[in-house]
Amino acid sequence: MIERLAIYPGSFDPPTNGHLDVVKRAAQLFDKVIVAVANNGAKQPMFTAQERVELLTECCAEISNVEVDYFSGLLYQEARKLGAAAVVRGLRAVSDFEWEFQMALMNRELDRNCETVFLMPSPKYSFVSSTMIKEISAYGGDISSFVPECVMNALKNRIKKEVEV
Ligand code: PNS
Repeated sequence: MIERLAIYPGSFDPPTNGHLDVVKRAAQLFDKVIVAVANNGAKQPMFTAQERVELLTECCAEISNVEVDYFSGLLYQEARKLGAAAVVRGLRAVSDFEWEFQMALMNRELDRNCETVFLMPSPKYSFVSSTMIKEISAYGGDISSFVPECVMNALKNRIKKEVEV
């Protein structure tokens, strides 16, 4: 039987419950899902790629057909290297669509086999973003309903360290 593999790429800086919701949905649709942390130099992340991989690995430990890794370079090349049948991306709201549509079409232009599948997380996560989580956490706000516990602890520790230096 052919194994249908999907790649779910993202910055995941840090992973949120919205991301995990998408991972779970993808894991039901595909035989195997590789959650791929982008290690591209363009953004200045709060967590290193290795730290994000570790957090995601802990968050996804219960889902047997999910693996976590990181990649550098172009997504379509990584998808091709893994033999992925699809790229999975989450769509929280219509506002996400324009950029995601452009990215999906560009990736398919670069490799005509690179198909993107959009999955909608639960509406209860439609307003959750990693950027907001970092800001709320930095100012001591309660993020417990938006991120897994390990992410909450990692954020607390990181912010404590930043205050100390
Ligand atoms: O979580 P994000 O930040 O929305 O994820 C964006 C990501 C990592 C999927 C995108 O920036 C990406 O694919 N980066 C890899 C480099 C690449 O292939 N760029 C061209 C996209 S058309």
